[in-house]
Amino acid sequence: MHTIAQYRDAFLEYLDTTLETKEPKNLYEPITYILNLGGKRLRPVLVLMSAEIFDAPYQKALQAALAIEVFHNFSLVHDDIMDAAPIRRGKATVHEKWDLNTGILSGDAMLINAYQLFEHYEGSIFKELAQLFTKTAIQVCEGQQYDIDFESREDVEIEDYLKMIEYKTAVLVGASLQMGAIVAGAPEDCKRSVYQYGRLLGIAFQLQDDYLDAFGNPDTFGKQVGGDIIENKKTFLYLKALENSERNEASNLEHLYSISPVDATGKIEAVKLIFEQSGAAELTRAEIKKYTKEAFAILDKIEIPEDKKSLLRSFGSSLMEREV
Ligand code: IPE
Ligand code: IPE
Ligand code: MG
Ligand code: MG
Ligand code: MG
Repeated sequence: MHTIAQYRDAFLEYLDTTLETKEPKNLYEPITYILNLGGKRLRPVLVLMSAEIFDAPYQKALQAALAIEVFHNFSLVHDDIMDAAPIRRGKATVHEKWDLNTGILSGDAMLINAYQLFEHYEGSIFKELAQLFTKTAIQVCEGQQYDIDFESREDVEIEDYLKMIEYKTAVLVGASLQMGAIVAGAPEDCKRSVYQYGRLLGIAFQLQDDYLDAFGNPDTFGKQVGGDIIENKKTFLYLKALENSERNEASNLEHLYSISPVDATGKIEAVKLIFEQSGAAELTRAEIKKYTKEAFAILDKIEIPEDKKSLLRSFGSSLMEREV
C-alpha cells in the first residue's frame, strides 16, 4: 500500500505523460487547460487505492483512474456552463476563457476520450468497467438535470435533493472505488460494499460542497462563493432553512430566491444570514457527519485487513475537514 499523497503523485505523473495538445488547438487546448488546472484528484486516488486494497498493483488501474478524472473534468466544463460559473480552481472557466461552443465541444471530446481509455482493458474486465461507467455516466446526467429543474421548482423536498446529489456526485465516487476493485478482480460482495462506501461518502462530499459554496473562504475556495445562491440552487441549506424558519423569514427567503439582482452581494449576505440563524448551517454540518458515519459503518463490514480500512477511513475523515 501507498499513502494518499503517493497515489496522487503517481496519477499526476501518468497524466503528464498522456496530455498533448494536438490539432485542432481550439479543441485540445481547453482540455489540457482544465486537466492541468489542478483539483484534488480525489476520484483517481480512490481508483488506485482500491486496486491495491484488493491486491492488484495500482499501475494496473492508471487508465481507469484517468478515465474517471477525464470524465469528472468533462462534467465540470459542462456544469460550469449550466451554472454560469466564472471561476474554477481559481482560474477562468473554459467557457469564459474561450466561449460556449468551445466548452461544449471540448467537453464532448473529453467524454469520448474517457470511454476510449477503457480500451486498455481486456475481456471481462473491460466489459465490467464499461458497464459500470455507462450506468454511472447516465445517472450523472439525470442528477444534473434534476439540479437544473430544481432551480425553478418550488416543491423540492429534502428527499428529492438527496436523490439529486446521489446521482450527480455520489455515484461517481462509488464507481471510482468499484473500478479499482474490478481491475483487481475482487469478489462481488467486496465490489458492492466498496461502492456503497463511496456512494455514502459522496453524499457527504456534495453536502460539504454546498456548504462551502456559501461559507467557504473566497481567497482559497477556487470557485465563486455564493454561486449556488445566485443560481437559486435548492440545496440542503436552503431546504432546511425554509423548514426551520418562521413564516415571515421563510417568505423572505423564497423572495430572495426569486430575484436576480445585477449585484448579488446583498442577496448572498441576506441568504447566508438566514442559513445561519435558522440553524440550517449547523444541520448541514451534522448531516455531513451522519453520512460519513454511515459510510464508516459499511467500511467496518468489508473483509479487508485493518490497515487498509484505516487508509479508507482517513480518506473519508479528511473530506470532512476540507476547505476546498
Ligand atoms: C467538484 O468536484 C464537483 C462536485 C462534484 C462537487 P471536486 O471538488 O472534486 O473538484 P476538483 O476536481 O477537486 O476541482
Ligand atoms: C456538480 O455539482 C456535479 C457535477 C459536476 C456532475 P456542483 O455544480 O455543485 O459542482 P461545483 O460546485 O460547480 O464544483
Ligand atoms: Mg457547478
Ligand atoms: Mg452544478
Ligand atoms: Mg457546488
